[in-house]
Amino acid sequence: MRYLNPEHKLTVNCPDSARNTNNTYDILYRYDFRDLGQALCDLYADRDPEAPLEKRRVFIITDTNVAPLYADEVSASVTDHCFRVTKLVLPAGEKYKNTETVNRIYEFLIENKADRSSVILALGGGVIGDMAGFAAATYVRGIDFVQIPTTLLAQADSSIGGKTGVDVGGYKNMAGAFYMPVLVYSNISTVRMLEKRQYLSGLAEVIKHGMILDKEYFEYLRENEEGLAGQDPEFLLDALFRSNEIKKQVVEQDPYEKGLRKLLNFGHTIGHAIEKDSGFTLFHGECVSIGCAGAIRISENRGMITADERKEAVAFLESTGLPVRTAIPSADRILPLIKLDKKNSAGVLSFVLLKGIGNAVTCPDVSSAEITDALDYINSK
Ligand SMILES: NC(=O)c1ccc[n+]([C@@H]2O[C@H](COP(=O)([O-])OP(=O)(O)OC[C@H]3O[C@@H](n4cnc5c(N)ncnc54)[C@H](O)[C@@H]3O)[C@@H](O)[C@H]2O)c1
Repeated sequence: MRYLNPEHKLTVNCPDSARNTNNTYDILYRYDFRDLGQALCDLYADRDPEAPLEKRRVFIITDTNVAPLYADEVSASVTDHCFRVTKLVLPAGEKYKNTETVNRIYEFLIENKADRSSVILALGGGVIGDMAGFAAATYVRGIDFVQIPTTLLAQADSSIGGKTGVDVGGYKNMAGAFYMPVLVYSNISTVRMLEKRQYLSGLAEVIKHGMILDKEYFEYLRENEEGLAGQDPEFLLDALFRSNEIKKQVVEQDPYEKGLRKLLNFGHTIGHAIEKDSGFTLFHGECVSIGCAGAIRISENRGMITADERKEAVAFLESTGLPVRTAIPSADRILPLIKLDKKNSAGVLSFVLLKGIGNAVTCPDVSSAEITDALDYINSK
């Protein structure tokens, strides 16, 4: 193991200046779900001795693909430690990441008498994590939630940092809240059950973390293509830990995305537009990979990276099996979607580019002509 610490644990500590407090939570790295119940018991014994886990209702929110695989194991791990466990199984997929589904969560919580001491366990990929987290942030003005990510994408990225939300009218993450989980429990073994395309989708965010902030880690991933391709749990756990460390360092300094955190959006400006344009037939990470290739192209055109660096970075994404190109019928269709991205402010397009591998910077002055050239570059037609 190159990165993973002996505790198999990372602690994230985000200051919350509005409430003059700190949001601190652990990410636990495991190969099964057995420690979950005890970890939650310990958490509440420490945080709130007046309301230990045994007095709390626990609500597992999951989807139709994940429930048959892991809901029983998760339930078994917590049942003896809490007042009652109840489960809600939602339809799987991005097209259900909307306010209607969040309404179903609210109704389920009301029917089952969830109160302020209740705890939501978000068991699934980024879609479940984002939606259950948003429901937790807003139900009776906020109840605790635990991220139990079961996709590589959710383990590497979406379960950390407290971004929760839903798509509105097909526009990505237009309603949401920054709301931190009380615990993240990553069981790396779940990744073995993922379809190859879903696995690769998560790998895009892992590689992105190296590309933007850690050249050494990026090279380490490149040198271990076999470990990545084989979905080797030990190698993945180690890589995942470093990926989480990078994200932790960023979100601790800038939890509400005022500056530094924008770097994590590398590849997302073009990526989100392509994701929407595809009607969500392309996966999030696939679009991030294509978006990274586009942003890398703009970086090269600006002389911020060399042609060799561009070739190496794009070739690495491609060699893993990730797409770096897609059919773009016309830039005129994608450009307005990019300009609508919620990360733009006062009409200024905020783009993340690379000033060398491992050194991302935010550039507020990327022109439509530069984006059109990038779209030509990633156009597979
Ligand atoms: N909040 C954040 O900071 C953040 C960051 C990145 C992405 N996201 C969001 O995350 C979402 C994408 O997440 P995702 O890729 O995990 O998608 P997802 O949640 O849709 O999961 C992908 C598919 O895999 C299935 N699945 C989940 N775990 C499985 C397992 N262990 N075995 C077999 N199948 C399994 C799911 O049912 C689903 O069909 C997007 O909505 C994106 O916007 C959020």
